Amino acid sequence: MSILVLDNITKEYPNGIRAVDSVCLEINDQELLILVGPSGCGKTTTLRMIAGLEDPSSGSIYIDSERVNNRSPRERNIAMVFQNYALYPHMTVYDNLAFSLKMHHMDPAKIRLLVTETAQMLGIEDILHQKPRLLSGGQQQRVALGRAIVRRPQLFLFDEPLSNLDAHLRAKMRTELSRLHTRLEATMVYVTHDQIEAMSMGEKIAVMNKGKIQQVADPITIYDRPANKFVAGFFGNPPINFFEGELVSRDNNLFFATGDLLFPIPVARYAGLERFVNRQLVMGMRPENIVVGEGKKNGHCGLYVSSSVEVIEPMGCETIVYFSAGVHDFVARFEAHTEFIVNEQAKLFFSMEKSLLFDKETEQIIL
Ligand SMILES: Nc1ncnc2c1ncn2[C@@H]1O[C@H](COP(=O)(O)OP(=O)(O)O)[C@@H](O)[C@H]1O
Ligand SMILES: [Mg+2]
Repeated sequence: MSILVLDNITKEYPNGIRAVDSVCLEINDQELLILVGPSGCGKTTTLRMIAGLEDPSSGSIYIDSERVNNRSPRERNIAMVFQNYALYPHMTVYDNLAFSLKMHHMDPAKIRLLVTETAQMLGIEDILHQKPRLLSGGQQQRVALGRAIVRRPQLFLFDEPLSNLDAHLRAKMRTELSRLHTRLEATMVYVTHDQIEAMSMGEKIAVMNKGKIQQVADPITIYDRPANKFVAGFFGNPPINFFEGELVSRDNNLFFATGDLLFPIPVARYAGLERFVNRQLVMGMRPENIVVGEGKKNGHCGLYVSSSVEVIEPMGCETIVYFSAGVHDFVARFEAHTEFIVNEQAKLFFSMEKSLLFDKETEQIIL
């Protein structure tokens, strides 16, 4: 059952900015939904409306099948953790955790139990007597999480809670949060602008751009079958290569034509493509689908492209190489030990089985 439903939510601020545009989302019980998109796309506004801190201009929000538009934040049983968490500086960690429970006049013995349990879960038992200013950034963030967890809310909202931490700690906390999600059997909405964070945490990812939800799917689907050009370009590092061109038919075979290159479309993928012949399209080709070696001999459909090596970036576990071929620039990724030499030519095979085609005008995926 859906714990949380956003039904056609729109938010227009008084300055005329439409921060959130006709958003529909459903979050199931015990689900972790990752809401990801570039800065300014409307993520925080969406969370604030769920929490009741902001009123939608139109649309309905349901929690547990009940319309909650008119319910105050306190009545919604939601805990929100922000990027800039504010701990009470004059209170110990223990009192920071216990604060909201005391406000609810909970039995002191019960409070002690819940605070201790939460502290253990987050590995902060040893600092319960300390004041926040003496803590590291990572510890403070744990306390902020603890304050949300201790209440055992029906729904957790996280707004980029890890972005103040350094990369190493962020990766560690990310894993811990995923673990907490399972352990607490909690329902969570987690907001981030970081595609890698979204991919690594996501069971279900909602991609947002310009106030609109672009796609909701699992990470593999998002990567392999992006709904549109925006989603294809947002995920993947180095990013997907785009080539502008058109679909052409030669002797009953279909090709994507760009510059003087004719990329054969795999026959297995012809269905539904006929109507796009002679239309302007964009081809998306992920860096790992450009390979060296005898692609065709291995039965793959594709095209050899003679390319000039421009830049080589050895990353340790892999090597990223930038090429140019005629009017086209593109990037590909290879195993760590490659034989490329800058300014020399390389014969690359563009494997077409995993290529993506988008309508240039609508930017929606067509293949
Ligand atoms: N209180 C506000 N008044 C006017 N415009 C706002 C307000 N809050 C956010 N915005 C605008 O709404 C858009 C979405 O903002 P926000 O929800 O904060 O995006 P995100 O969290 O994805 O970065 C931005 O263009 C932002 O400038
Ligand atoms: Mg934000």
